[in-house]
Amino acid sequence: MTPNILAKNLTVSLTVKAEGLSKRFGELIAVDEISFSVAQGECLAILGPNGAGKTTTCEMLEGLIAPDSGTIEILGLRLDSHRQELLEKIGVQLQETALYKKYTVRETVELFASFYQQPVTIDVLLAKLDLSEKQHARLEHLSGGQKQRAYLACSLINNPQVLFLDEPTTGLDPQARRYIWDLLCTLKGEGRSLVLTTHNMEEAQALADRIAIMDRGKILALDTYEKLLERYCGAKVLSFELSDPAHLTSLRAQLAWLAPARLQGERCEVEVEQASDFLQQLIRAADHLQIKIASLALRQSTLEDVFLQITGRKLQA
Ligand SMILES: Nc1ncnc2c1ncn2[C@@H]1O[C@H](COP(=O)(O)OP(=O)(O)O)[C@@H](O)[C@H]1O
Ligand SMILES: [Mg+2]
Repeated sequence: MTPNILAKNLTVSLTVKAEGLSKRFGELIAVDEISFSVAQGECLAILGPNGAGKTTTCEMLEGLIAPDSGTIEILGLRLDSHRQELLEKIGVQLQETALYKKYTVRETVELFASFYQQPVTIDVLLAKLDLSEKQHARLEHLSGGQKQRAYLACSLINNPQVLFLDEPTTGLDPQARRYIWDLLCTLKGEGRSLVLTTHNMEEAQALADRIAIMDRGKILALDTYEKLLERYCGAKVLSFELSDPAHLTSLRAQLAWLAPARLQGERCEVEVEQASDFLQQLIRAADHLQIKIASLALRQSTLEDVFLQITGRKLQA
């Protein structure tokens, strides 16, 4: 295969391509020169704290606001020149949905169906989202999870190949959240591309093939969960508390690998590669120096550790 053919095939399988996207609101740079792509059947999670620029990014991808600079291609078409055509093909779930709460689930979905030339069969869609029994309930009478499923039904009414979901499970209890996760996995399994934003690291880990870590308008890292952990942290975090935190200095003088350790309140945390070796060294050094360790734990690194490593701040306050 010649390189040209290979490049062409790669382009075809990309469903979303954003290059150098920026958006300002007055003085504030909400999104700052971000670039990424999403392949067919892939889920990209944009993970970041409140104010990172996630919703602004989504709204640009959805054609709701225009970027100040940069380009967006969806399904091989430029969004700026093919907006109407693309709106028929993409699904959008907004972070805050101002749907009329007195409408029933069915009426709401019917309203959305009327916007499209080729909507899917409503009964089939409602059954897929486990909403058949609730179809005549008003939105205002639904639980958080049911409401979210109703919004998802609206975003799926045109059988979209690409789906944008802005914080699809924020505010839901763990059970309702898992239910939505399962639905999203099914949608991905059907070959759709998903771009979802979240400030929840478990959500990113559970759903995403790749994760873009976003903060203050910039994408600071973008890779698979495993690669992000590998690049930015050790596999494990050794976490301990000393009876007197001032003693950390003496321990550091003995154990070079404690140098990058950071304090989380009273807890001291450090990423480690050879966990059991370091654990033993720490206990021995503390014993030797007569320093009391109040608590000690070894845990798996998480995306929270990656975020902390990159930004120096916590993702989840
Ligand atoms: N329409 C707007 N006018 C002014 N500032 C805005 C507007 N929309 C968003 N912002 C600001 O842009 C930044 C990014 O916001 P947003 O994209 O909503 O972040 P996120 O979804 O990650 O919480 C925030 O500082 C927010 O206050
Ligand atoms: Mg948002």
